[in-house]
Amino acid sequence: MEREAFQAVVLTLFPEMFPGPLGVSLAGKALQDGLWRLESVDIRGFARDKHRTVDDSPFGGGAGMVMRPDVLDAAIKASRLNGTPLIYPTPRGRLLDQARVRELAAGPGVTVICGRYEGVDQRLLEAHGVEEVSLGDFILSGGEIAALAMLDAVVRLLPGVVGKTESLDEESFETGLLEYPHYTRPDPWNGVEVPEVLKSGHHAKVKAWRQTQAEEVTKARRPDLWDRYVKRKT
Ligand code: ADE
Repeated sequence: MEREAFQAVVLTLFPEMFPGPLGVSLAGKALQDGLWRLESVDIRGFARDKHRTVDDSPFGGGAGMVMRPDVLDAAIKASRLNGTPLIYPTPRGRLLDQARVRELAAGPGVTVICGRYEGVDQRLLEAHGVEEVSLGDFILSGGEIAALAMLDAVVRLLPGVVGKTESLDEESFETGLLEYPHYTRPDPWNGVEVPEVLKSGHHAKVKAWRQTQAEEVTKARRPDLWDRYVKRKT
């Protein structure tokens, strides 16, 4: 049986930020072709009072505002797709990696809560078993850009989105190593020649050179990935 298109639901105070960059290039073409679907839901539409309040000051004091649990709860109940993970991008989350991206792409879809201000009331996160996910050790001004980045990573893995499957298999993280460097014409350029081995036509030598390059760059830049790679091999 053919599977339903991957469905992303994004709860946000800025629905005009979607599809944004996901509406162009690879993801945009796939969206047009119906390989995935995107619904952005305006959280403010679920505010009950006449001022349409979505946030309030934090108990215990401190700077900033906190997103109200009751408003988000109503938005989630009205929009969440059954059986899809509910994800909240936040610097407090577990680091997103390619393994989790692959799992998400294999599933029916995701529902994403985009936070603004200081964040979301903790009770809401617990009540819905929300998965907190971080893109890295830096602070964005809201969850929208993190949601766009995460969805981009997921959508490109959906069947039919990227043409040649081999262009996915050799990438960084799929092999456990960072990728080897790439070269194209002109040669020479800027006084620098393309490495001789890549022009040799010797497939096995090219493969070996790329492997060595990938290992060297990983050792130098990402000792954490290198350790894992070595342990996996032994
Ligand atoms: N929201 C704000 N900063 C973030 C980050 N680094 N990762 C995910 N979501 C975020």
